[in-house]
Amino acid sequence: MKFAKNILCIGAGYVGGPTMAVIAAKCPGCKVTVVDVNEERIRRWNSDDLPIFEPGLLDVVRSARGRNLFFSNDVVAGIKAADIIFVSVNTPTKTFGHGAGMASDLQYWEKTAHEIVAHADRSKIIVEKSTLPVRTAEAMECILQENKKGIHFEVISNPEFLSEGSAVMNLLEPDRVLIGSRQTESGRKAAQEIAAIFAHWVAADKIITSNLWSAELSKLVANAFLAQRISSINAVSALCEKTDADVAEISFAVGSDTRIGPRFLNASVGFGGSCFKKDILNLVYICRSYDLNEVADYWQAVIKINEYQQERFVRKIIKEMFNTIVGKKIVLLGFAFKANTGDTRESPGIFVAGKLLEERAQLVISDPQALENARKDLAGLDGSVEYEPDPYRAAVDAQAIAVITEWDIYRKLDFAKIFASMRKPAFLFDGRNILDHQKLFKIGFNVFPLGKPSLTHFK
Ligand code: UDX
Ligand code: ADP
Repeated sequence: MKFAKNILCIGAGYVGGPTMAVIAAKCPGCKVTVVDVNEERIRRWNSDDLPIFEPGLLDVVRSARGRNLFFSNDVVAGIKAADIIFVSVNTPTKTFGHGAGMASDLQYWEKTAHEIVAHADRSKIIVEKSTLPVRTAEAMECILQENKKGIHFEVISNPEFLSEGSAVMNLLEPDRVLIGSRQTESGRKAAQEIAAIFAHWVAADKIITSNLWSAELSKLVANAFLAQRISSINAVSALCEKTDADVAEISFAVGSDTRIGPRFLNASVGFGGSCFKKDILNLVYICRSYDLNEVADYWQAVIKINEYQQERFVRKIIKEMFNTIVGKKIVLLGFAFKANTGDTRESPGIFVAGKLLEERAQLVISDPQALENARKDLAGLDGSVEYEPDPYRAAVDAQAIAVITEWDIYRKLDFAKIFASMRKPAFLFDGRNILDHQKLFKIGFNVFPLGKPSLTHFK
């Protein structure tokens, strides 16, 4: 079959895989190929055991795979055939050298740019999909224009705003699609070509165009704003615990102001995920590199409060369990960084588990999707850790339960049955405020919500 356009995506991860699956499903006239250097990942994308868990994704993949959606390890063939190349490789925080712990590690991204130059033999549009520091497109242009073949690459920034666990929904019904380009004739034309792809299913007023740098920076700023809301409410949760105010009531009252809005105001054990911390660190690093230290300090505080919130949660567990948890069995309910994903990157569960093990607790980790990743995250730590997907079995003989992830199934558990199987006094620390605390208290638990008065049976 002859396709109208050949679209390639380099990087078959959490962003590239779902995004391309939806583009292929919605644009049957385009051939969409996703390539990755990782053979195991590609093998799984070609099976029904996808490498990432994302509700609804398998159906979308199946609807297009083999028709106009292909997964392959052949990066070179992919580059040669493509009209449009989305670059969706990983850009983690640098762990070495200058800017370690702050700046983005751009080695995978730069390698990709060199590969494109080496193998492309005609002009193409290159789309930055990975989150990148502002003005990265300039560097990409420099590398790409260095070719001796007289071909032109137009660089576009099209940051991805999808959220894990609802990626398919976010892609099918995005709040907006942002397309940044050079404000030249060829830049605008390339932006229109990318817009035309999304126009197959996204309303025209939701497709926003901007200059390249605004598009790049918007992604960092959007994540910084979202994370800032969580750190703000988490900071308030600490104050609530001192004043008998209730953080959920405050979220509701404050979020009812239409200027503020109700979302992303749930107090938690801390935000996790591959984006928030990385992107804020990146923003901080960029600000410092322009000598904007006050601006950098402002954003850095969002991360500081997030670390404080995780530490506070652990300190509370230890304090309330009579200042020692040596040999006590504690169940972490959930390990993923949020519900509906198996992803554990930057999950507060990693920090909490590490600290509880340092205090020599016996841990049982329970999660419906994330145990495979949890094992990798906790490998090498000293101490006793068990992994048990069934929350009922996990809780037998436990002294405490700490809710780390807001999985829906945890709201529906039979806590009377769980309480009966636990050692007494039994403790419950709700790091997500998802459970019915009064009901748990009546069952017999000593309950410690976040930002709300504790409910204990101790005199
Ligand atoms: C985020 C952005 O939402 C998305 O637009 C961007 O493309 C990638 O980064 P993601 O990391 O998948 O998405 O998850 P998100 O839903 O934003 O949650 C991030 C963290 O914040 C999770 O740990 C979540 O549990 C936590 N959170 C979220 C809270 O603690 N409280 C809230 O009210 C909302
Ligand atoms: P994200 O969450 O941004 O999607 P992931 O780490 O899940 O990030 O995915 C990035 C993918 O990019 C990985 O599967 C990795 O193997 C792939 N990748 C990195 N560098 C290259 C490259 N030069 N060519 C092809 N794939 C690459």
